[in-house]
Amino acid sequence: MKEQLAKIRAEALAAFDGVKDAAALDELRVKYLGKKGELTAVLKQMGRLTAEERPAMGALANEVRAAVESALDAAAGKLEAAALSARLKAERVDVTIPGKPVRQGRRHPMNTALEEMKEIFIGMGFTVLDGPEIELAELNFDRLNAGEGHPSRDWSDTFYFDTDERVMLRSQTSPMQVRAMDSMPLPIRMIAPGRVYRKDEVDATHSPMFHQVEGMVIDKGVTMADLKGTLATVAQRLYGPDTKTRFRPHHFPFTEPSCEMDVQCHKCGGKGCPTCKGEGWIELLGAGMIHPRVLEMAGIDPEEWSGWAFGFGLDRLAMLRYKIDDVRLIFENDVRFLEQF
Ligand code: PHE
Repeated sequence: MKEQLAKIRAEALAAFDGVKDAAALDELRVKYLGKKGELTAVLKQMGRLTAEERPAMGALANEVRAAVESALDAAAGKLEAAALSARLKAERVDVTIPGKPVRQGRRHPMNTALEEMKEIFIGMGFTVLDGPEIELAELNFDRLNAGEGHPSRDWSDTFYFDTDERVMLRSQTSPMQVRAMDSMPLPIRMIAPGRVYRKDEVDATHSPMFHQVEGMVIDKGVTMADLKGTLATVAQRLYGPDTKTRFRPHHFPFTEPSCEMDVQCHKCGGKGCPTCKGEGWIELLGAGMIHPRVLEMAGIDPEEWSGWAFGFGLDRLAMLRYKIDDVRLIFENDVRFLEQF
């Protein structure tokens, strides 16, 4: 029996020492320590021993069991460590590999121009309004004193809806004057930037969709002097404190008197150059005192209130500012172009 125990111990220790994987280890555990294992088989024979022999043999058996168990633990520990280091090796991350560059976008020049414009007017106490691009012809024309038969209503210029020609893509932001008068308490100081649509052929300076910024002030005692002073200040904020402006008479159905404002060319200082096409001046916007008829149609008494309005093309302004010579570049969204701003 003693020899049997010694043999089991020697064999088991050698076997555990050379074990390769968890399945083999478990097989060995069953073989040596299981209920039907070799050690159990030996212990079952203890009954046949004499009372004197039994304690020493019992002690030896316990010692062998303890030795086999600790060999099992050691082997299990070794396997676990090997598995962990294999996993660490397999899942290793090379932190020295260069990362994927993240492409950073930037503001569109039109967006920058608009933000700048808003900032100037907000600083002067104007509210910024937003309105629909699909507009009623009534607001785009009739309420702006351009009734039936007015040339600007022509089909060849205007995108009407085929199914209902009372509806159109607005050809100007001026219907926002009407929307403001209909919905806001007086006095009003607002700007309304947005897209407008005209049936223009596409070329370097024309696009069927472009951007305007409308502006309007209605208060008591407002005069043309307020219009000139405010718009001259805006031009100076845009092009520098020495910027000169001039106002030329013009015609719009919804303002009286009407004018256009030019700024002295910031490129040549008025001498004439390619930017101003030799004129020395660059046309910036249309404006005028709100026609009494327009006020009346909005239920505003022109004897009590007066106002002025202006509208300018934001695309043109951005093109001048950023020296963009073709309006199509603004809408193509080619990153090679946009990256330059
Ligand atoms: N709506 C006019 C245009 O598109 C501009 C304008 C706006 C003129 C407001 C006077 C007052 O040309």
